[in-house]
Amino acid sequence: MTKKPKTIAIDGTFASGKGTLAKRLAAHYGLAYMDTGKLYRATAKATLDAGGDPDNAADAAKAAKSLGQGNLDEKLSDPVLKSGAIGAAASKVAVHPDVRAALLDLQRDFAAQGAVLDGRDLGTVICPDADVKLYVDAKPEIRAERRHKELVGYGEEISFDTVLAQLRERDARDMGRKDAPLKPAEDAHFLDSSHLSIEEAFDGACRIIDAVMAGK
Ligand code: DC
Repeated sequence: MTKKPKTIAIDGTFASGKGTLAKRLAAHYGLAYMDTGKLYRATAKATLDAGGDPDNAADAAKAAKSLGQGNLDEKLSDPVLKSGAIGAAASKVAVHPDVRAALLDLQRDFAAQGAVLDGRDLGTVICPDADVKLYVDAKPEIRAERRHKELVGYGEEISFDTVLAQLRERDARDMGRKDAPLKPAEDAHFLDSSHLSIEEAFDGACRIIDAVMAGK
């Protein structure tokens, strides 16, 4: 019988569809799910709420260190975390090594119970021994279109061109930072979601995961 995966690490670009995919995979394989981007978003919000600057390493690290104190689930479910402004600030706080170090154990402890985690450095840094690693990407124009629709749905007034420009800026910052940049792990399996429906991406991911597990 094919072994059930214990840890699935999903990395990928902004608005590649990795979150939706990760959530569905967690339900399918009976695993817990963590959207690690929310930790960076909550850190960004806490930095701004304290009057700090996301580009300032000390301000951001202080916020990251205090994240685990108090009710984390409540902090992570704040709807304001979904906004474009918090997302951009999250990408800024994520550059600082002290922020990443402060959030490391939260993610590793969560992964230990058996989980699907998605973000930027799961396969490379957080869960290097994951059973299966996926790297999800799609063409920038297609990702910008998805994100534009989502933001308009939240009531934000923003043009497609602005969303595309912000997305390119975000990709460059996430891929260009020194500490834990976004990149596929050497043993990651690629999934290009540009022309896939949610259902097709899910089916493709299950095929990859089941094939990897059949070989274990
Ligand atoms: O996936 P997201 O858009 O919610 O992530 C917001 C930012 O957080 C992203 O631009 C970079 C950072 N991030 C990270 O550096 N590492 C992760 N594992 C997840 C997110």
